[in-house]
Amino acid sequence: MNVLVIGSGAREHALAGRLGAEGNRVYCGPGNAGTADVAENLSLDPDDAEAAARACREVRADLVVIGPEDPLAAGLADKLRRAGYPVFGPGAGAARLESSKDFARAFAERHGVPRARTEVLRTEAELRDYIGRTSGKRVLKKSGLAAGKGVLESPDPEELLAFGRSVLGGDVLLAEEFLTGRELSVFAVCDGTRRIVLPPCGDHKKPLPGNLGPNTGGMGALCPVPFAGPDLLARIEAEVVEPTFRGLAREGLAYPGVLFLGIMAAPDGPKLLEYNVRFGDPETQSLLAVLGGNLGDLLASAASGSLDPGAAAAAAAAPETWACGFVAAAPGYPGAYPKGIPVEAVPGNVPGRSSVFHASTRRDPSGRLVTGGGRCFTAVGLGGTLAEARKNGLDAVRGIRFEGAWFREDIGAMPA
Ligand code: AMP
Ligand code: GLY
Repeated sequence: MNVLVIGSGAREHALAGRLGAEGNRVYCGPGNAGTADVAENLSLDPDDAEAAARACREVRADLVVIGPEDPLAAGLADKLRRAGYPVFGPGAGAARLESSKDFARAFAERHGVPRARTEVLRTEAELRDYIGRTSGKRVLKKSGLAAGKGVLESPDPEELLAFGRSVLGGDVLLAEEFLTGRELSVFAVCDGTRRIVLPPCGDHKKPLPGNLGPNTGGMGALCPVPFAGPDLLARIEAEVVEPTFRGLAREGLAYPGVLFLGIMAAPDGPKLLEYNVRFGDPETQSLLAVLGGNLGDLLASAASGSLDPGAAAAAAAAPETWACGFVAAAPGYPGAYPKGIPVEAVPGNVPGRSSVFHASTRRDPSGRLVTGGGRCFTAVGLGGTLAEARKNGLDAVRGIRFEGAWFREDIGAMPA
């Protein structure tokens, strides 16, 4: 099968690597310096639908996998499907589940999906009123896309006001009750009708040990999740996943692709934090390291509307090994950070032990490897226990060297 993977992150590197290892001919657009080792990179702007359609034609794509949210929200999947290509990913209509948190909130409320009590704030007067009459830690969210950085949790009225004002004007705010509990990321692969749930992942959204600091896109992820036993997973399926998919079917929004449900396992039951309409990053790097079965068959059968039962059953099975991923980030991330930092060392992959995935890296004109984003690499350790996977991941991430590189050391070390 000829597969075109759209995107340039570590998630796309992991997807392309696995699809290539399964014997597919993989193209990555635009990819990065790491995907060049496992696929053929195509110079392509994911936001240019015409260029993507041309690339599909040129490589005779049997399957297109769209990694990031921006091209999905802009309707790239609609355009490529109209041009006759099987695409794994939603059209712009269903992508609103991610691109508008307000749309997702209203959808979840219509279909009885449990979530935090929420108010929608549209003006500064409403924001000031909300801050004045509530107390304690509160959560403010920008409704539109924000690369994981549009959410503030804070008890501080000044900080809430400053964040809220920076969003209002161009967008609306969701003000949510602060939920306590443990977070997990759940991925449901759907062919437009049937769905399966993949093994759960545990992302670490905060940059500092102990889960402190502002939100990031994710600093590391586990798969599976130590605290997510069969009882919790069954409750998530019955109370969150099932009403969501019933709602998608009723509203004509079910799509061939993956729905990512961010879940808070709160003391009174699982609650939806957010929907995303794509695979998670860095979750995918850990998930694919332990996922059973043939990924290409799973994605291609979903894209063509008829989920392959064998691939689906293997992918849904509980993994026998553990994966623990660490993101190596640029200095300053999630705030402003430099790009183009020369990379001095990247450890090689060690089968059964660790793999390193690139994010937006490139070669400069002299052939030197340089960084290109805030989250620059993901090092994933594998093991028969979480502790072993964690150790292997730490060994690998410590070998990634560029000026100012940092990572969150306690991924996988949080109390289970
Ligand atoms: P979101 O992009 O909506 O998933 O929010 C980003 C992160 O903010 C989540 O992964 C949680 O860590 C945190 N968060 C979001 N909403 C809430 C909430 N209502 N209560 C507590 N934490 C939250
Ligand atoms: N790691 C969270 C996300 O992909 O949105």
